[in-house]
Amino acid sequence: MEILVVGTGAREHALVRALAADPAVTGLHAAPGNPGIGELATLHQVDPLDPVAVAALATRLGVDLVVVGPEAPLVAGVADAVRAAGIAVFGPSAAAAQLEGSKAFAKEVMAAAGVPTADSRTCTTIEQVAAALAEFGAPHVVKEDGLAAGKGVVVTDDTDAALDHARACLARPGGSVVVEDYLDGPEVSLFVLSDGTDVVPLVPAQDFKRIFDGDAGPNTGGMGAYSPLPWAPDGLVDEVVETVAKPTIAEMARRGTPFSGVLYCGLAMTSRGMRVVEFNARFGDPETQVVLARLRTPLAGLLVACATGSLSTFGPLTWDDGAAVTVVIASAGYPARARSGDRLTGVAQAGALPGVHVLHAGTALRDDVLVSAGGRVLTVVGTGPTLSAARATAYAGVDRIGLDGGQHRSDIAARAAQPAEDQPVDPGPSGGDVPDAGADRADAR
Ligand code: GLY
Repeated sequence: MEILVVGTGAREHALVRALAADPAVTGLHAAPGNPGIGELATLHQVDPLDPVAVAALATRLGVDLVVVGPEAPLVAGVADAVRAAGIAVFGPSAAAAQLEGSKAFAKEVMAAAGVPTADSRTCTTIEQVAAALAEFGAPHVVKEDGLAAGKGVVVTDDTDAALDHARACLARPGGSVVVEDYLDGPEVSLFVLSDGTDVVPLVPAQDFKRIFDGDAGPNTGGMGAYSPLPWAPDGLVDEVVETVAKPTIAEMARRGTPFSGVLYCGLAMTSRGMRVVEFNARFGDPETQVVLARLRTPLAGLLVACATGSLSTFGPLTWDDGAAVTVVIASAGYPARARSGDRLTGVAQAGALPGVHVLHAGTALRDDVLVSAGGRVLTVVGTGPTLSAARATAYAGVDRIGLDGGQHRSDIAARAAQPAEDQPVDPGPSGGDVPDAGADRADAR
């Protein structure tokens, strides 16, 4: 089987790495990929946001499956174009990707499907926003309706800051915002695969969204993740499947826009029970890096089953009983103004450590020298029999890597890796805090 993966990040590197380990896979391509992906796949300089170009590339290569990594190509219709070319694709249509592309649409679907989520108001005027902020009270949560490249959500105690963010969103053509009730409690990411009818959950993971230790500083795309979650309530996955994933997939099918691909359920474990914070229409980054590190079922067949409507006949998934922790190494200045062009050292040495693999995100080769080329540069994944072993392994890898001005958190999975008797009630990375204005999509409460 030949597969084309669309995207450039560490999530796509993790997908390519897992696909390369599947004996059924005979050829791998990426568009456009990155230098790390290039060690496993043939790279093609095609614009991932251009549906016609991606479909033409897939046709020319004669691939059996296209896997679309990020949300923007999905919302742009890449999956539709590939399907129209007669090629199987893992990823929802543009219409179904509106579950991520429009917060208001996602809320409408959740309401119709009876999915537990925060109460919300969709607003197109600042007067409506002011009324909704007053109704819900602080902390205020204001979400831009459309995709906002990680800048769409503000969570703040400051009403003026909430109004300022809403004004900026409303000023854009067709601008609207969703104002919602704040959800307390730690967050969980659960990816649920679907072929449009049936669903198969993966294992839960937790992401660390703030740039600095102790969940300080601005939000990022994610600075680390771990799996499993020893503190998660028993039955959580079944509860999400029954009360979130199945009703949502059924509602999307009922509307004539079946959702196939991965439904990323961003959840909050609130004092009133589990609630959906947001849906995404793609795998999360960096959670995918730890989830796939634990998946033992060959990935290609699983993604093909989603793409071809045959998930019901796919056997149960198998998982490594151990743990995985990933730590993101980000460039100087990230997230405000990421610096590029800094030399990376020690990547191969880190990857040679037992239990460590290094995934590329914002990297580039300049005169055969590996340099930073973006905000999140690398994710270092450590695996081990326990969270504490996986954590130690990941950080041993991080310690080998040099990047001038590079930043990483030193507390990824620290609390979750403590012995059970030392576990705090709230082990989440940001549960219960009240982020400042400027929080981005990643802190989507
Ligand atoms: N880890 C957050 C995201 O993928 O959006």
